[in-house]
Amino acid sequence: MNLRHLIRSNEEDLALAESIVLEAADYRLQTYGQFPGAADGASLFSCFPAECADDDRFLFAVVDHKTSVGLLQVARGYPAPDIAHIGLLLLRPQQRRRHIGCQAVEHLAHKLRTWKGVTHMQLGVLTSNTTAIRFWQHCGFVTTASECREPGFLSSGNVMVRALKAKPVCKGGRCEISADHAHARHLAAVMR
Ligand SMILES: CC(C)(COP(=O)(O)OP(=O)(O)OC[C@H]1O[C@@H](n2cnc3c(N)ncnc32)[C@H](O)[C@@H]1OP(=O)(O)O)[C@@H](O)C(=O)NCCC(=O)NCCS
Repeated sequence: MNLRHLIRSNEEDLALAESIVLEAADYRLQTYGQFPGAADGASLFSCFPAECADDDRFLFAVVDHKTSVGLLQVARGYPAPDIAHIGLLLLRPQQRRRHIGCQAVEHLAHKLRTWKGVTHMQLGVLTSNTTAIRFWQHCGFVTTASECREPGFLSSGNVMVRALKAKPVCKGGRCEISADHAHARHLAAVMR
């Protein structure tokens, strides 16, 4: 498992983002009620909160056994300096339910510890995306705000937070869940 930083100006990286977004059309359909286009892959390089500086915008490929199986978008220091906001974790459909997602989250948590001042991860998830909610709970995230409404999304959303220093839940496919994994913080965090 590895996270590789993708660069917008690299044609192969751009093509990779587009191909994964197109392949995982179910996500965009469920979230926005529309099938994705190639431009939606490209937009992952630029679609960040306006307050987020260029240097704090990251799109990673989730690499499993040298194969790029998904995308992970992260904004550093948003909405507060101690938070890393996960904009999206998206795996190719045939790569799901193999504990790649939770390994990617643990890998990210490890990486974020080297980002000065960042202590927590946060994300917004649609209340209709019950699979993702179960997944994030599995990864130790707790809901800190619920039923948030944002224009353009098909359902309301929840904000979920986890401390970086939580004990890893996934050990090679054997997973444990503990309430200690997460600390509810930043109740006023906003949905993207
Ligand atoms: C959400 C997503 C990233 C999860 O990644 P994944 O690699 O498939 O998930 P994992 O195999 O690591 O699952 C870990 C745990 O999460 C829960 N989970 C994951 N998928 C689930 C599903 N379809 N149904 C029920 N529980 C599920 C389970 O508890 C699972 O543990 P288990 O397999 O031992 O029961 C992936 O399904 C995905 O890309 N979905 C589409 C995009 C999306 O919705 N992203 C989240 C946006 S907020």
